[in-house]
Amino acid sequence: MSTAGPDPSDLDRIAVAALARVEDGMLLGLGTGRAAEAFIRRLGERVRRGLQIRGVATSERSAALARRENIPVVAFEEVERLDIAVDGADEVTPDLDLIKGLGGALLRERVVAYEAAQFIILVTPEKLVEKLCSRAPIPVEVVPFASTSAARHLTALGGRPAVRKNTDGFPFQTDNHNWILDTAFDPIDAPAALDARIRKIPGVVDTGVFLGMATLVLVADPGAVRELHRQR
Ligand code: A5P
Repeated sequence: MSTAGPDPSDLDRIAVAALARVEDGMLLGLGTGRAAEAFIRRLGERVRRGLQIRGVATSERSAALARRENIPVVAFEEVERLDIAVDGADEVTPDLDLIKGLGGALLRERVVAYEAAQFIILVTPEKLVEKLCSRAPIPVEVVPFASTSAARHLTALGGRPAVRKNTDGFPFQTDNHNWILDTAFDPIDAPAALDARIRKIPGVVDTGVFLGMATLVLVADPGAVRELHRQR
């Protein structure tokens, strides 16, 4: 769902700042989306100059880019702990809670980030919000069979769900062969409670609400990089 967006030089600046935290021998989670792709390209440059790392990709798209960049990509099933996962986000609160998934890879992003000692998020400043759902819907990944009933239950929770579509009008399918209900809510005061209620809906596989997971957010301020830290 990436549209005309951030200045590539802003993404590059935060990608370089994330790369400064990468050391020889690390196992990295490779996120999905424009910011994550900026990081993968910078990482590829370093790998071609001799940096020894391996990556686990959160989407087929990121895996393909990483391979083109000569980054050794390993299957998630082959690894246990990761050192750092680097990814983008759609919203970031002052507590470093996130909405993710407008790129469609939320489930694998969560699975990979959960195994990482550090979860570094790269964003441009317009994504900083006081409350989640201020500017982005919550992407809710559902099995296609349950999409209609799940949409009804999301509406009952006060949401405004819409099946994500491709440009050809057909539903967007995730790498896990599921659909996404992009569900707008008014800005939310209690994201944990709302997320728990969404997760109880049968057929919901995951949501784009990432609470208490990010350890560091790098923000592309004009000409600078701002660091927002959180202890895990
Ligand atoms: C991918 O599923 C998403 O979680 C992205 O990380 C998020 O949508 C941010 O993407 P951009 O970096 O393209 O804005």
